[in-house]
Amino acid sequence: MAELLIEAEGLTVGYGGVSAVRDVDLRLHAGEVLTLLGANGAGKTTTLLGLVGILPHTAGLVRCLGIESRPGRSAALARAGVALIPDDRGIFPELTVDEHFRLASRRSSRQRRDLVLEYFPALRDLLGRRAALLSGGEQQMLGIAKSLMLSPRVLIIDEMSLGLAPIIVQQILPKIRDLAKEEGMGVLLVEQHAQLALAASDRAMVLGRGEVVLEDDAASLLADQSRLEAAYFGGEEQR
Ligand SMILES: Nc1ncnc2c1ncn2[C@@H]1O[C@H](COP(=O)(O)OP(=O)(O)O)[C@@H](O)[C@H]1O
Ligand SMILES: [Mg+2]
Repeated sequence: MAELLIEAEGLTVGYGGVSAVRDVDLRLHAGEVLTLLGANGAGKTTTLLGLVGILPHTAGLVRCLGIESRPGRSAALARAGVALIPDDRGIFPELTVDEHFRLASRRSSRQRRDLVLEYFPALRDLLGRRAALLSGGEQQMLGIAKSLMLSPRVLIIDEMSLGLAPIIVQQILPKIRDLAKEEGMGVLLVEQHAQLALAASDRAMVLGRGEVVLEDDAASLLADQSRLEAAYFGGEEQR
């Protein structure tokens, strides 16, 4: 059995005393790609933030790489190898592509940089360009490439395709999956393009109104999409 990287049991997270996510059980293993699906406001981002302890949990247990996630532990989690790419992509508009790499690469090697650029060759021609001048897809590639420079053991990506053409997601997701298999990295994705995400995932969970309403192998969910639609629809209907 592959190593357990993230372990959450009964995770409950909220804002100002109101729970936005309740009783979520989630496990992520080495080499696995897990996609979190669900309608807008279902609690996907809140779940991610609870998993890495940016938001405190009010009930349940959550550990990433053996470290209990809670506020104040972000630096320790990052050092242990947990990388979160937030939905704003986590890049600095004024810095060039190369400057992003150099910031990240203080803790990584030349070989790592070359490997990452092999996965994202488009960035090679953009090294001198400021991030603000990149297209949305290029910015996303930069956000991911910069995180990969640090050889994370857990990569968490929120809404990678927000505002992007699906073609970009189609190109990027398989690369992330390859790297996960190659390096035993665990990947947790939040993604709106459900079919594309499932095609590059091992498992998926659907959240509805802050609770897990469906969980299965990605292949099974792709084969019978009515279950997925029912899960989305059910989550909406109860509003
Ligand atoms: N900063 C916040 N303060 C209060 N409520 C929030 C905040 N962020 C999100 N929420 C609420 O928590 C619920 C889940 O939101 P979120 O996790 O952002 O959903 P998703 O990422 O699935 O779209 C929503 O009802 C949303 O309105
Ligand atoms: Mg969100």
